[in-house]
Amino acid sequence: MNQLDQLPIPLLQWYRENARVLPWRSDPTPYHVWVSEIMLQQTRVAAVLDYYRRFLEAVPTVADLAALPEDALMKLWQGLGYYSRARNLHKAAREIAEKYGGAIPEDKKDVRALPGIGEYTAGAILSMAYGKHEAAVDGNVLRVYARLYGIESDVLKSAGRKEITTLVEKTLPARAGDFNEALMDLGSEVCVPKHPKCEKCPLHGECAALRLGLENVLPIRTPKKKQKESIACCAVMIQEGKALFHLRPSKGMLSSMWELPMVLSDSEKDGVKMLEKLLGGEAGERIWTYTHVFTHRIWHMKAYLFHGAKEPEGDYRWYSCEEYREIPLAGPHAKLAAYIEPYLEE
Ligand code: ADE
Ligand code: SF4
Repeated sequence: MNQLDQLPIPLLQWYRENARVLPWRSDPTPYHVWVSEIMLQQTRVAAVLDYYRRFLEAVPTVADLAALPEDALMKLWQGLGYYSRARNLHKAAREIAEKYGGAIPEDKKDVRALPGIGEYTAGAILSMAYGKHEAAVDGNVLRVYARLYGIESDVLKSAGRKEITTLVEKTLPARAGDFNEALMDLGSEVCVPKHPKCEKCPLHGECAALRLGLENVLPIRTPKKKQKESIACCAVMIQEGKALFHLRPSKGMLSSMWELPMVLSDSEKDGVKMLEKLLGGEAGERIWTYTHVFTHRIWHMKAYLFHGAKEPEGDYRWYSCEEYREIPLAGPHAKLAAYIEPYLEE
């Protein structure tokens, strides 16, 4: 059995010598920790760094974020994906400005009640920025603990997560913030998902998985449901150097972002027919294909040059290149828009 209270010592020692240098760590204010943790959800550190820097330059405080127009926020977020994160960040900033005078609350219940802040993010903000005794259990921590303690429950189910959270809380030392970050770094640098580097691990003497030869078996995660795949036929309509764009509805996937006219279907033939009906023209040459993978969906995108089409009823607008660089484009459509630039005027 592991010595629960012995775990933090070698881990914190390792962290002192190996901590990654990250911009939100050099000045861990509640706002910095909050913004970085939201950006880091489902997104790798390397992909976040530039966005984080630009975001804090443009929006240095909660008050600035509360006052920022939505489309300026979406523009700053464009390309990071999972746009509901940005919308929740915005809603939460407004709530913090109104209810708490712009200071992120220190009380766990109050922080948890803010849009977009779950158990993990609340724990991260409270422990890293406010020095509170709170656990922050993310995917890294689930993996590291499942291995350290040889836990065979499914870590994606709530029982498995609870079992591990209880263990983390029991192990948590006085410097909970450092400990939480140490676990994240161990999980991303050493106890990595495939082929953990146990020979470099400060905890290899304590690790149940290593002792039992299960380091490549744990954690147990039952496979997710298969992603739904669709054909996404897109129309490239160009008139007088401008292309036709459509504003997606304010609810649902990629809400309030712009796209080239698009229909989703099960076959390319049906999709093209539906697009022709929508736009009243004829699909010409297919100029672009691309597969975009979301968390729960896959779009096989096919873009056609359209001829003789009209602008349909609804939220459609003609934009030049220069103009559409300023609007928030849905991720895969930003790729298509970049591809068609040579057809358009500056
Ligand atoms: N991933 C999520 N939160 C993180 C943090 N604070 N430091 C490094 N990686 C992280
Ligand atoms: Fe992970 Fe290996 Fe360290 Fe165990 S010894 S915690 S499996 S890296």
